[in-house]
Amino acid sequence: MGIALIWCLALILIKWITSKRRGAISYDSSDQTALYIRMLGDVRVRSRAGFETDRRGSHPYIDFRIFHSNSEIEVSVSARNVRRLLSFQRYLRSSRFFRGITVPNSSNILDDDYNGQAKCMLEKVGNWNFDIFLFDRLTNGNSLVSLTFHLFNLHGLIEHFQLDTMKLRRFLVMVQEDYHSQNPYHNAVHAADVTQAMHCYLKEPKLSKSLTPWDVLLSLIAAATHDLDHPGVNQPFLIKTNHYLATLYKNTSVLENHHWRSAVGLLRESGLFAHMSLENRQLMESQIGDLILATDISQQNEYLSMFRSHLDRGDLCLENANHRHFILQMALKCADICNPCRTWELSKQWSEKVTEEFFHQGDIEKKYHLGVSPLCDRQTETIANIQIGFMTYLVEPLFGEWARFSNTRLSQTMLGHLGLNKASWKGVQREQSGSGDDVDATFEEMDSDILPQEPRLS
Ligand SMILES: *[C@@H]1O[C@H](CO)[C@@H](O)[C@H](O)[C@H]1NC(C)=O
Ligand SMILES: *[C@@H]1O[C@H](CO)[C@@H](O)[C@H](O)[C@H]1NC(C)=O
Ligand SMILES: [Zn+2]
Repeated sequence: MGIALIWCLALILIKWITSKRRGAISYDSSDQTALYIRMLGDVRVRSRAGFETDRRGSHPYIDFRIFHSNSEIEVSVSARNVRRLLSFQRYLRSSRFFRGITVPNSSNILDDDYNGQAKCMLEKVGNWNFDIFLFDRLTNGNSLVSLTFHLFNLHGLIEHFQLDTMKLRRFLVMVQEDYHSQNPYHNAVHAADVTQAMHCYLKEPKLSKSLTPWDVLLSLIAAATHDLDHPGVNQPFLIKTNHYLATLYKNTSVLENHHWRSAVGLLRESGLFAHMSLENRQLMESQIGDLILATDISQQNEYLSMFRSHLDRGDLCLENANHRHFILQMALKCADICNPCRTWELSKQWSEKVTEEFFHQGDIEKKYHLGVSPLCDRQTETIANIQIGFMTYLVEPLFGEWARFSNTRLSQTMLGHLGLNKASWKGVQREQSGSGDDVDATFEEMDSDILPQEPRLS
């Protein structure tokens, strides 16, 4: 316990020392886009690290255990906390785990042993229709470990970087465990989904012919870790509850900084790259940070206008490492919000999950009189309204530019689904308005006055 505590303190110290101030959040609250930016701020939020009053929560009035009212979950949560603190115990556990010494009936747990169907699915891992929910079931909830390990292998990274496969698995298990499985949306399945999407983008001709193994390595790690330890609530919530993370990161890209630092912590703990030079490891950590920080949706306008000007000038040169890394930032941003570009079946499930996470935050905000965040009020919002706004203000502009950059069949497929899914939600919205009582007057007004033009998708 003593050693574990020292480790924990050392990690916190490292986080403090290495933390850097990023640009301030720049959205304007009068801007419609900001609503959806804030919403996505919500989209990307809800895990647990934040909500352990006993350990790190800092709001004086909220017992953060309310997040886990289900007693079964509480048990697993506290079990998990112990694990998180006891790095050494986790290390021992996972190494035994991988040596196959303990765990009777381990065939249910070990991803080596995922059944034939999951293996079969991996043959089509580059398919845009890949069903990550099914894959997660077939791997007994180990989709992130299985998929990422497979992709490392597929891209030849294990060989190229001389990676120790035991360390790689251990690292991926730690990553998967640091996602909060009780978050409806921001859990390891979302991370696996983003990693799969990233893989699809890396295969696009423009990228695949210019990317180096180093680029691919960073992209996959960043995708797998980009929401690590997400508390299931958004940044404004953390700020208004005086959460320690908001203080630590000075109210700026609070979650993204935390995801990045958590990833760095696990990279160091796993020793996966211990055989590389210190210089390379530091470069890797900072470049992974650049990728993860780009997923802060409140910065989308800045990234998008840079992307747009490059495309207008036609000056992107992928032989240039800086340009490649910029494109990888854009690719990760696309991967992160690509849900509406998937088939309706998949897309709809994501929409339901993310809304559940928003509404859960709204319920807590109501209960504690914190002021309900935009899009989090289950009394006035609907999935359809939220999705239509999200698509209009964030997804369509981003994927429109992406399709200009990479005008391929995949891009056309994504835009096609996006259009169809939006039409489906509009159908749902019409039905709901038709039924009378459920009409949300605010949104109706917004829909007709503020959302008149569909952004043109080139
Ligand atoms: C392992 O699985 C078998 C068959 O599913 C079962 O009969 C046995 O009791 C299990 N053993 C343990 C230790 O759970
Ligand atoms: C963060 O925001 C809170 C609430 O607006 C404010 O009280 C606090 O001073 C801010 N902290 C920093 C470092 O800007
Ligand atoms: Zn995400």
